[in-house]
Order: sequence, then structure tokens, then C-alpha cells
Amino acid sequence: MSKVTVPSIKAHKGGERIAAVTAYDYPTAVLVDASGIDLVLVGDSIGNTILGYESTIPVELEEMLAATRAVRRGIRRALLVGDMPFGSYHCDSAQAVSAAVKFLKAGAEAVKVEGGKRRVGLVRKLVENEIPVMGHIGLTPQSLHAMGGYRVQGRSSDDADALVSDALSLEGAGVFSIVLEGIPADLGARITAQVGIPTIGIGAGGECDGQILVLADLLGLTVPPPSRLARTGETAPQADSMAPPKPRFVREYLDLRGSILGALSRYADDVRRGRFPSEKESYFSPARVDAHPVGDEG
Ligand code: KIV
Repeated sequence: MSKVTVPSIKAHKGGERIAAVTAYDYPTAVLVDASGIDLVLVGDSIGNTILGYESTIPVELEEMLAATRAVRRGIRRALLVGDMPFGSYHCDSAQAVSAAVKFLKAGAEAVKVEGGKRRVGLVRKLVENEIPVMGHIGLTPQSLHAMGGYRVQGRSSDDADALVSDALSLEGAGVFSIVLEGIPADLGARITAQVGIPTIGIGAGGECDGQILVLADLLGLTVPPPSRLARTGETAPQADSMAPPKPRFVREYLDLRGSILGALSRYADDVRRGRFPSEKESYFSPARVDAHPVGDEG
């Protein structure tokens, strides 16, 4: 399979759907790339999924860059997009260009910014500076406080029209694709039909040109945020209480939470009962090797 590029992603418009996921570290990046995923986003969802923040707002540029470098080392084929974190593009365009340049130096091939019309000037500036940009509209998690919570957007006809207009403005400014998050499926279809660039949906219905899921959601590795863990008060929580409410748009393809908890409790049990390590998992001094022929003594 050939290398995915910005032009090849654009060429998917109206054709084969784009399969995208997030990644934040080297081992999962290697696996994601080996699976044939087209586009990998180092998302600021690293805040909730990996760093244990309550939202994406606290995520720092340096945290995103470290994750981008790690993911870069694991990706050969997929297009790698870095998510500009809250505060890294909100002051002025010089600050935003400098942050985006750091993403490209860390190995990203494009950056993503949240917001519609109000990002048009910024998108133009980035594109003028040879930095491919992905848009992101609808439920934009960095607008958590402004939205008053994580709410499906574009439900009224005025809000829906505004989102269509946002998408067209971003396309005009030069984005190569747009993430549509948390909007009604019919609006996802309407935007997809109106723009000439691929839309990538997350909670935006089945008519988008591609789909993206947060890797931890897809693998069943999402756990409650620290504030909710503190409230359960359990010292040895069970797999059930580790599963936060699953948003409607998430499909879990695995139950990694359950698998990890099961593996760790079997390990702890084996250690406590003296069943781990076995002789096969132990080294012996030369005098004892004959008595314990255990193969590779590496
Ligand atoms: O940060 C992220 O994971 C994202 C995706 C949900 C699109 O922005």
C-alpha cells in the first residue's frame, strides 16, 4: 500500500471512505499503521485518554509534540496529523504558525485546528506557509466552557446553516479536510454533499467521507476521569465500574479494560501464590544448568 499524503486524502472525496484513528505513543502507532489505517491524528484527546486530565483544555503544546514524535517513529504509511492544543493558536497568527511549525518538525504532515469562520484568517496564514490544515467543527471539545458542556451541535436550523457556512468558509480558506464532530447525521450528510473536500465524521452519521474514533474508545480502554474515580471510593474497582458511560457514536471493538484488569489480577495472584516465575522463566548459575535444561539461557 502506498504512502498516504494530503493530496491522496483529498482524492478520497466521494470515493472509498477514509479510516482514521487517534494515537499517542509508539507501540500503538506501529499497530495502527500495520492495520492499514489511512490517517492518524495525534489528538488533544490525549488529555482525557492518556494524561488523566478532565478535558482537553489543560493539554500543553510540549505534551502534544512529545506524543507526535513518538507516533512519528511508528508510522510509515498513514498520514500523520497533529492536533493544535487549546491556547497554541488563540493569541495571534505568529504564535499559531510557530506552534504549527513545531508540529511539522516533530514529524506531523498536517495540523488540525478547531473552529469555523473565526479560523479562516489563521487557516489562510498556515496554508500560505506550506502547512496543510484540517478543520474541525460541530462539537469542538476545546469550546467546552463556551458550549456549556459536550452537547450535540447544529440541531436547530439556524445552527445547522451556520455549520454549513463554517464548512464552506474553511474550505475556501484552504483546509484539505474537515472533522465533523457531534452533529446530526442529516447535517453531516448535507455538509459532506456541499463541500469538495473530504469530511471525516465522529458522531456525525454514516454519510461522511471518512470516520475517526479515539483509539481508547475503539479498544475499550477509556476509563473514568480522576474526579469520577475519587467519587466511587472503591479501593479495588471492578471492570464494570471502570467503564465510563459510552457515547452513542462509539463502537468498542475490544474490551481492553477487562483484558488488562484480568491479566493483572492473574499476575498478582500468581506472584502471591509463588506460581510466578517458574523455572522456565528463571536463570540458573552454570553449575545448575545441567540439572535444569531450560533451553535458551540468554
Ligand atoms: O483530539 C481528538 O481526538 C480529536 C478527534 C476526536 C477528532 O480531535
